[in-house]
Amino acid sequence: MEMSFSDKKLTEVESLKGRKKKQKKEDAWKPEGPMDPFAMLDSLPETKQQEIQKALHLFSLGRSLPKTLQQAKKHMYQFWDTQPVPKLGDSIVTHGPIVEGEASVRKEPYSLPQGFSWDTLDLSSSTVLKELCTLLNENYVEEDDNTIRLEFSLEYLQWALQPPNWLAQWNCGVRVDANNKLVGFVAALPADVRIYETEKRMVQVKFLCVHKKLRLKRMTPVLIRELARRVNQQGLHQAVYTAGIVLPTPMSSCRCWHRLLNPRKLTEVTYPGLRQNMNLQRALKFNRLPEVTKTPGLRPMTKEDVVGIHSLLQANLRKFYLSPVLSLLEIEHWLLPRGNVIDTYVVEGNDGTLTDVVSFYSVSSRVLNHPVHTGLREAHLLYVASTATDSVDLMEDTLVLAKSKGFDVFSALEVMDNRSFLEKLKFSINDKSLHYYLYNWMCPKMSPDKLPVISNSW
Ligand SMILES: CC(C)(COP(=O)(O)OP(=O)(O)OC[C@H]1O[C@@H](n2cnc3c(N)ncnc32)[C@H](O)[C@@H]1OP(=O)(O)O)[C@@H](O)C(=O)NCCC(=O)NCCS
Repeated sequence: MEMSFSDKKLTEVESLKGRKKKQKKEDAWKPEGPMDPFAMLDSLPETKQQEIQKALHLFSLGRSLPKTLQQAKKHMYQFWDTQPVPKLGDSIVTHGPIVEGEASVRKEPYSLPQGFSWDTLDLSSSTVLKELCTLLNENYVEEDDNTIRLEFSLEYLQWALQPPNWLAQWNCGVRVDANNKLVGFVAALPADVRIYETEKRMVQVKFLCVHKKLRLKRMTPVLIRELARRVNQQGLHQAVYTAGIVLPTPMSSCRCWHRLLNPRKLTEVTYPGLRQNMNLQRALKFNRLPEVTKTPGLRPMTKEDVVGIHSLLQANLRKFYLSPVLSLLEIEHWLLPRGNVIDTYVVEGNDGTLTDVVSFYSVSSRVLNHPVHTGLREAHLLYVASTATDSVDLMEDTLVLAKSKGFDVFSALEVMDNRSFLEKLKFSINDKSLHYYLYNWMCPKMSPDKLPVISNSW
């Protein structure tokens, strides 16, 4: 038996199958009814679509997935209650797997409704990477009112999904047989992670995405089960992942903070992280930054810095209860600067040793239906470790550098020691939380300052 699948779980796939019998082959997982409402929606101008989406959002709060623990307590987790994850409300004091992984793993892939097939996405092919990019860019909506939408580049996806030892079979896609269209995706990446005192090889799960027209039809549980099967096949039984919704059961939760770099533009596009009580003139003054950096020896990372950064980070990450254990190759992959993807700066002391490191990755969004602005560039803090420079000074210089590179906003989670500089550098808190989860591992909850950013969160 694999780690996670029980009889109850099969009923979900069965019920998908059952429903499909009543529908025509190509209609499986499509909305039922005489006219396809999505086709109608598609035919409307985008401004109309946005109005409808805003209204739907307002009226559908009861149906959406829990965003708080309070709401979660009232939600029935038909799928997650069958999985090896702690139950909501359990207070855990022990450490270890929830179920033991067993030798034999189910050989056949999980069943999909007729008309759909699994596809292992070979992301080293640029055609396939482009298809994934299209799926994500069209279906990974960031804001509830559909005004700002995440936009991943091919280079970003290559970086995010192809670290050392990535496996093609862990890029799990679902296609429509009739036209080969990619409509579902989830990925797992290998990761060595230390949780409290235990070091474990596990996977990090990312980029779960279901095409908008196939939402609420329980494709997600099938994607997750199939990915878990493929991970089990490689002898791994734990996973780490993050989500903006509350599932059973967050091991930790944290908020995101934003620092405006280009207040004029952010005001014009009504960026959600804006302080409501500030007019543009005040916002420009409040967010002013020095023109140049002040830390002596601060420079972009080069390949020669990999070893120095490795020891800096390993010493720093030991302070946290959950941390990635990064190899030299992984440091090179995740941190070596790549245009419009990842930036890393180091501080080199007079004797040539590296004393500090800071890195941020780049997330672009498309601004929809704005007369002037089309895109938004956000820098996200990845790692920061300082042994000689004051963290506020180092981060202020990082903001200066990000601004000079054309970023509009700088975001950081309240993880690691980030609280030491967030308020001082005029970051403001976002009301949304990010929750951290472990699959098939129990351990006591941890506060955000004991967490790192687990590579990049998308
Ligand atoms: C997240 C997404 C795949 C969920 O799809 P959906 O059609 O709403 O949900 P489905 O009907 O397929 O499945 C519902 C089940 O999946 C679970 N689920 C929904 N979102 C989830 C997530 N992000 N992670 C894990 N499980 C999730 C639900 O809790 C539910 O299980 P339950 O019965 O135990 O509560 C879809 O909304 C999407 O693609 N969103 C845009 C991308 C995104 O936000 N990805 C997640 C990043 S963390």
